[in-house]
Amino acid sequence: MTQGARYHDDDQVGRKNDKKEDHVGELMKRLELGQVPDDEIRRLIRVQLDKRIRWGYSRSFEQQIADVVNFAHSLRKMRISTEMATDTLDAQMYEVPISFLKLLFGSTLKESCCYFKDDSVTLDEAEIAMLDLHAARGHEIKDGHRVLDIACAPGALTMHIARKYKNCHVTGITMSPTQKEFIEQQCKIHNLTNVEIKIADITTHEMEDKYDRVIVIELIEHLKNYELLLRKISNWMTPDGLFFIEHHCHKTFAYSYEPLDEDDSFTEFFFPAGTFTVLSANLLLYFQDDVAVVNQWIVSGKHNSRSQELWLKNIDDNAEAVKKIMVSHTGSEEAAAKQFNFWRGLNLLGIELFGYANGEEWMTTHLLFKKK
Ligand SMILES: C[S@@+](CC[C@H](N)C(=O)[O-])C[C@H]1O[C@@H](n2cnc3c(N)ncnc32)[C@H](O)[C@@H]1O
Repeated sequence: MTQGARYHDDDQVGRKNDKKEDHVGELMKRLELGQVPDDEIRRLIRVQLDKRIRWGYSRSFEQQIADVVNFAHSLRKMRISTEMATDTLDAQMYEVPISFLKLLFGSTLKESCCYFKDDSVTLDEAEIAMLDLHAARGHEIKDGHRVLDIACAPGALTMHIARKYKNCHVTGITMSPTQKEFIEQQCKIHNLTNVEIKIADITTHEMEDKYDRVIVIELIEHLKNYELLLRKISNWMTPDGLFFIEHHCHKTFAYSYEPLDEDDSFTEFFFPAGTFTVLSANLLLYFQDDVAVVNQWIVSGKHNSRSQELWLKNIDDNAEAVKKIMVSHTGSEEAAAKQFNFWRGLNLLGIELFGYANGEEWMTTHLLFKKK
């Protein structure tokens, strides 16, 4: 190829890339404005999920396991979390008014996967079913235990345990003062005196307290260095303590949430690159320095997909009320519309991701660990 011809080619590639960027930029704007029909958003998501599947599966099992192990090693070199993951994501997703959470979720305000025995199960019933499943599978809680619920959010599990086991002392950790205030109000209403809520960022929080049971539901997707996290948790466990964890996963491969290519850049509408870790189902098994696995269970992705479907329905059924809350929360119509469409988009992503291949690719796992 002559130099002239190469410059000409570079020029063409440059123009093509500019066009792609313009296209993605325009798509992001339209997503923010709510101008992309749901069917089209879902189609775009499915195209990227197909690509992720092709990216993730290796040609040999030898390579597949090596990829997971290498990913685990790369996480060990990082901090427990990046500022981006903790602050950006938390501000956007979790520091939202309780009045919105009441419209979005079921009656316990559980911010995580619910369990649907069959299609007739309501969201309220499915929240309780999953809370009961946690208790049955993992916690083996006995009355009198000291229980720690890390990332307790508005307190679904904290309150569930406190009500069921009146002699347990339940400590919830949240980063949100609003959530702490809400849970404390609920405890007064329900006459519960066995709950304590601490405001803390788990990545920096230190304490001497020890717990018989530590529970972490859908937090670690925001974190990176599981060696440091599990060491911290192990230090908070009594010698015969148990640690129960739920996290989303892909059944085989692990990765950091980042666009796969330029066409995929629109997925930053949902989460900024790097803010999310998608664990493989076996990833935590490579972090048994301070805790040892006792059991593991898989919950089909269908349950999370159905949860997201019902959350989306709640947003749509209460659209005017949700918009009003968001206007007073953000202070502007424009920011409120952006947030409204972000939440709808997030649920569409969840429906497609966890519904992919009938829930047999991305799913939820439960693990029970003992202290080493
Ligand atoms: C998907 S929600 C799950 C909440 C709750 N465990 C449940 O099942 O309803 C994730 C929670 O993790 C919290 N979180 C994220 N990063 C955190 C951190 N560094 N320290 C404490 N909480 C954090 C968020 O504020 C949010 O409430």
